[in-house]
Amino acid sequence: MPRKDKPPIRVSKPYELVERAPSVAEFIALRSDAGWHLPNQKIAGAALNKALYSIVAISEGTVVGCARIVGDGLYLYLQDVIVKSASRRCGIGTALVRRCMDVTASIAPPNSGCLVVLMAAPELQRFYSRFGFKLAPENLSFMLIQRT
Ligand SMILES: CC(C)(COP(=O)(O)OP(=O)(O)OC[C@H]1O[C@@H](n2cnc3c(N)ncnc32)[C@H](O)[C@@H]1OP(=O)(O)O)[C@@H](O)C(=O)NCCC(=O)NCCS
Repeated sequence: MPRKDKPPIRVSKPYELVERAPSVAEFIALRSDAGWHLPNQKIAGAALNKALYSIVAISEGTVVGCARIVGDGLYLYLQDVIVKSASRRCGIGTALVRRCMDVTASIAPPNSGCLVVLMAAPELQRFYSRFGFKLAPENLSFMLIQRT
């Protein structure tokens, strides 16, 4: 009888969360690992310094994850939530988003009328619903211009 393949057990390596922006090189490395488009490095460098809040996860001296909040206090966007593929499914993404949600709650408390927004692939709906995100109503569509 063929044995059913069991999913591999992931063992989390120790990591720490550090409240700082990723460097351009770290950011590009994470985006590249995730298969995301790579921005112009000069523009990325300037943008990374403008975030309202940034956090990185570091394991064995290397940045293995990041998350950023950009916005103006009325609108807050959770951006660039990325965990390096080799470090996924160990709770790092949850820890990064949880910390960002604490920060959004302090910038945009309940009844403030602020909007916390993110863009995510459909399969991450469950992941983000754990933090209170809901799908946008059907009468809203997401529109963008990507200047690649
Ligand atoms: C999304 C992402 C940040 C999650 O990071 P992570 O460290 O793997 O997340 P966690 O280990 O905290 O995952 C917690 C739970 O979320 C869910 N989850 C995580 N990644 C998922 C995925 N890609 N698809 C479906 N569910 C997922 C799982 O239920 C997981 O629990 P489990 O391991 O017990 O099944 C990571 O997969 C990633 O960097 N993906 C590529 C970039 C991306 O899409 N970023 C989000 C853009 S908004």
